[in-house]
Amino acid sequence: MSDLCAERVAIITGGARGLGREHCLMLAKHGAKVVVNDIGAELDGADGDVSVAQQVVDEIKAAGGEACVNGDDVSDWNGAKRMIEQAVDTYGKLDVVVSNAGILRDRMLTNMSEDEWDAVIKVHLKGTFAPARHAAAYWRQVTKDQGGPVTARIINTSSTSGIYGNIGQANYGAAKAGIAAFTIITARELRRYGITVNAISPSAQTRMTENLREYTQEEIDNRHPKWVAAAVTYLASEKSQDITGRVIQAGNGIVAVCEGWRRGAEVAQSEDPNAIGPHIHEMVGKVRKNSGMDGFELD
Ligand SMILES: NC(=O)c1ccc[n+]([C@@H]2O[C@H](COP(=O)([O-])OP(=O)(O)OC[C@H]3O[C@@H](n4cnc5c(N)ncnc54)[C@H](O)[C@@H]3O)[C@@H](O)[C@H]2O)c1
Repeated sequence: MSDLCAERVAIITGGARGLGREHCLMLAKHGAKVVVNDIGAELDGADGDVSVAQQVVDEIKAAGGEACVNGDDVSDWNGAKRMIEQAVDTYGKLDVVVSNAGILRDRMLTNMSEDEWDAVIKVHLKGTFAPARHAAAYWRQVTKDQGGPVTARIINTSSTSGIYGNIGQANYGAAKAGIAAFTIITARELRRYGITVNAISPSAQTRMTENLREYTQEEIDNRHPKWVAAAVTYLASEKSQDITGRVIQAGNGIVAVCEGWRRGAEVAQSEDPNAIGPHIHEMVGKVRKNSGMDGFELD
């Protein structure tokens, strides 16, 4: 369709289904060589069908593109390292890591088990850190070897659940807010190497969201993962070199750049809790309230 990502080598984690599948197909359509990572997990992370990643690879190859399967668990330190090495060994280099793999174990805090917390934090947060860490070390070495910066990309996946806050998802939302913070921090650290780090906050019809409520056909069309994949594919290209440290909301009719925490009202510090208390009340009444799940609505 275009050569926007021609000669780019991209890993997409959780690339077999939903959003990841669409990221793989669109990146390949725009010229990228794609490593489709997926363990074929069920929605809650349980063992599933490992052949799903191969189906995406077959689809890309049938359309004339280049792709291969990686079956490593993104939250496994050595598995994540193998995944980076596989891309370099297979295609001679790596340019893009899209960290998209994810699971859900929704529960209200009063009932959430330790395992529900640990599993979600591990797949999302460590599963974002580990590939990024190994890829960044690889790219730093490339800058040394070639004596100049790369045009590399890390594109993480956050969520409105994390950046705005969704009831029933303390584990998932904490991980997704952590991914937004991880994105901002690593963007600052890696800028000097030419590596940009951004996060997508997607909205799309996938097995993760299809049962939340009834959707009209128009809503389903508006929530096709392709709208999100378009933003990811642009961010993966060399053209987005000046965009880093951003959380970009995409899908369901919009592409929006999110704004992060800012310092609001302030007073001078005090050792006296009785003196500081009324000031805190006054400032809380003055500043903007936290946003609702649409990013606007105020609690
Ligand atoms: N669908 C939405 O509207 C929405 C909204 C906000 C955020 N997200 C995020 O987008 C990403 C993709 O979600 P989706 O809706 O396409 O869900 P999905 O369940 O269709 O796809 C997730 C994929 O990740 C894979 N996966 C899970 N654990 C893995 C692991 N440890 N290693 C490798 N692969 C693993 C699964 O096998 C699956 O193929 C997730 O991070 C999700 O949290 C989605």
